[in-house]
Amino acid sequence: MSIFITGGAGYIGSHTCVELLEAGYDIVVADNYVNSCPEALERVKKITGRDFKYYECDIRDRSALDKIFKENSIEAVIHFAGLKAVGESCQKPLEYYDNNIGGTLVLLDVMRSNGCKKIVFSSSATVYGSENKVPFVETMKTGTTTNPYGTTKLYIEGILKDMYLADNEWSVVLLRYFNPVGAHKSGLIGENPNGIPNNLMPYITQVSVGKREKLYINGNDYPTKDGTCIRDYIHVVDLAIGHIKAVEHIMKKTGVDIYNLGTGIGYSVLDVVETFKRANNIDIPYEIVGRRAGDIAECYANADKALKELGWKAEKNLEDMCRDAMNWQSKNPNGYGN
Ligand code: NAD
Ligand code: UFG
Repeated sequence: MSIFITGGAGYIGSHTCVELLEAGYDIVVADNYVNSCPEALERVKKITGRDFKYYECDIRDRSALDKIFKENSIEAVIHFAGLKAVGESCQKPLEYYDNNIGGTLVLLDVMRSNGCKKIVFSSSATVYGSENKVPFVETMKTGTTTNPYGTTKLYIEGILKDMYLADNEWSVVLLRYFNPVGAHKSGLIGENPNGIPNNLMPYITQVSVGKREKLYINGNDYPTKDGTCIRDYIHVVDLAIGHIKAVEHIMKKTGVDIYNLGTGIGYSVLDVVETFKRANNIDIPYEIVGRRAGDIAECYANADKALKELGWKAEKNLEDMCRDAMNWQSKNPNGYGN
């Protein structure tokens, strides 16, 4: 029996493949490489010394997906496949709804017709919106997303809840990620953004290897300790291990359970810059510029539920994240395109 990983060649997917293989699971991967490449999966094989099948497949392609289910014995799905750029989603809402929601609908239909009713879904802290107070707890009201990307996460959470209401044989875990950063300690896999990075850590690592001149910090006039935004950065390997716990959970029980995957600690942008400098003994020049539209001042998790029910807790600290991010970037200055 295998775990089917959609979007497994991506940043979080590839790290999760490593942890699953190392925990002894068999896996099958599908990805259309819209934001990744098969080289990431070859490197997963290299790290783990294990082989697995992977398919170039768009999850909206019903017959291709069905063929994968028929060719393999799939017990459960971890569903990473999706588009994730917040800014781009505001320019291309239709593409985001089509890919993320349309893709999920096809996936769920194919799962159902093949008798597979266990799924772990990549949701996001973005579903907490701007009206809740930190730390965010799973019981808080959601529904105030401010961009189409976030709205796709919210809708898919709702669709999965409805699937269970209609058929209580389904077993669903919704994982709300906070800010995944860092890379596998081997430096063989990591985050590989196209063009100018939108996110903080890949931008810093590109400055660190001289690909960008300096970091632009988006605002220092927020109501926080140093005026810059606070986020809950979580090492991608800790996040990947959270998926193993979620898979164990859906094997045991039906229902819908929601878990925050974060450290529970908030760091400011300046904290990240200072920690990165210290951990890697390198300077990161920066300039303070205006606020970025849509940013909230603070976002961090209450991660108690995942500890209590899944026995999961993030183990790595911000220094580990900064060191591992730098290790990946310096070994692969052009990502997988070296
Ligand atoms: P990523 O872009 O690296 O990985 C997503 C993968 O899905 C890519 O390999 C891409 O090629 C693939 N994909 C996209 N659409 C597809 C389709 N229609 N068919 C097949 N494959 C498709 O992103 P990531 O950071 O690894 O994120 C994984 C998941 O976690 C996404 O759903 C994302 O929205 C969610 N998430 C990410 C973050 C973050 O900060 N990285 C935060 C919260 C949630
Ligand atoms: N930032 C900068 N300069 C940069 C990049 C980011 O100052 O060049 C700042 C941002 O303004 C923000 C902080 O760094 O204050 C973190 O920004 P990121 O873009 O790294 O992360 P976000 O918290 O904005 O977004 C992340 C994911 C989204 C997800 C969201 C909530 O990228 O997909 O968390 O879960 F929706």
